[in-house]
Amino acid sequence: MADQSSNQMWGGRFAAGPDAIMEAINASIGFDKRMAAQDIAGSRAHAAMLGATGILDPKDVEAIREGLLTVLSEIEGGTFGFSTALEDIHMNVEARLKEIIGEPAGRLHTGRSRNDQVATDFKLWVRDQLDAAETGLLALMKALVAQAEAGADWVMPGFTHLQTAQPVTWGHHMMAYVEMFARDLSRVRDARARMNESPLGAAALAGTGFAIDRHMTAEALGFDRPAANSLDAVSDRDFALELLGTASICAMHLSRFAEELVIWSSAQFRFVVLSDRFSTGSSIMPQKKNPDAAELIRAKVGRIFGAQTALMMVMKGLPLAYSKDMQEDKEQVFDAADNWMLALAAMEGMVRDMTANREALEAAAGAGFSTATDLADWLVRELGLPFRDAHHITGSLVAKAEAKGCDLPDLSLDDMQSVHDGITQAVYDVLGVHNSVASRISYGGTAPVRVREQAARWKEILG
Ligand code: ARG
Repeated sequence: MADQSSNQMWGGRFAAGPDAIMEAINASIGFDKRMAAQDIAGSRAHAAMLGATGILDPKDVEAIREGLLTVLSEIEGGTFGFSTALEDIHMNVEARLKEIIGEPAGRLHTGRSRNDQVATDFKLWVRDQLDAAETGLLALMKALVAQAEAGADWVMPGFTHLQTAQPVTWGHHMMAYVEMFARDLSRVRDARARMNESPLGAAALAGTGFAIDRHMTAEALGFDRPAANSLDAVSDRDFALELLGTASICAMHLSRFAEELVIWSSAQFRFVVLSDRFSTGSSIMPQKKNPDAAELIRAKVGRIFGAQTALMMVMKGLPLAYSKDMQEDKEQVFDAADNWMLALAAMEGMVRDMTANREALEAAAGAGFSTATDLADWLVRELGLPFRDAHHITGSLVAKAEAKGCDLPDLSLDDMQSVHDGITQAVYDVLGVHNSVASRISYGGTAPVRVREQAARWKEILG
């Protein structure tokens, strides 16, 4: 007979209970209680199937069903007493079920194992997060499209190397992020579709001799089908890694945008004013308004990408099928998903609330000889010069303007003609920033007409 202190779930062959340190390293209840709702949903589907297939008596199935609902309401109501000795959410729920309904509780685990159970619970949890990420991304994209529509023809400097390159429109810059988040959204949907196979009924690793119906449980839990290989089903954590990979790329996008907002909201740039709702003050410098939310979003990619690296390292080299190493999957994913959702929501709020400083954007747009390419293109178009020659002539004109301490449109026609005598008054038309952006009408270009088309297209898609 097993020692009283040995485990009631698997204590049959044990003479003694675990050392306190063993219990501490082994237990996952401290974090996997977050999957309680998924665990109970999985158990309810499994029990209903055991009834439908005649494996369990309908009376037992009904007792299990009611008992599980009671357990769920205890957990939701905060009255459930979680026990570390019971290791994880699966055994905590089952032990409480036994207290409530007695003997039938012991029949619930027929034809399944904690290995397929945890894979199922975790998949359901990850799937919910992908759905939440989809909602968050769509809201953020809508906020960006609204900004783009409002400022489709506002000019600002476009940068390469963070040096002034060519004028672009505010709307164009906002729509660039819409494209990035659209790719994130497509990765979220892709991952969701690929992960949607049910591990339940794979049992420990080899399947089961009971005549279970895995199609039935898969359908009840909203999966497209049961996973086709029981070994794979219990040892797969690709779905968690795909969430982390998708979240990492998305967090990297959020981080780039956050960095721009930090720069743009500085006194030196003044491109945007962030709302008070998404800024903080300084305890010592009364004038300060800090872009803390943007800075934190910029940083979140660190822990999210860290979680992906961590889980890759956990999974690397693990033999089939389940190993306890895999219990290390959840905290990483929970933390990454929480912070991903928070970053998405904070970014959406900031974008919705921020005000672009149209005058400052326009003033900066013309600085740094930003229309030099327009000048070179004009020389090609109007004087028939090869682009390389036009590039050289324009370079000389920029040097001239720099020496005089003025911008390109401030050079006199005489100055222009001293570098190339074919230049006429008409060149001044292309040196203005508004003309510059209006001329970039190629598909995907920064011209307001193209930006409005893209904003309208996305508005239609986003609804
Ligand atoms: N708490 C475990 C985990 O999170 C559940 C599965 C335990 N399975 C086992 N064979 N010990 O992975």
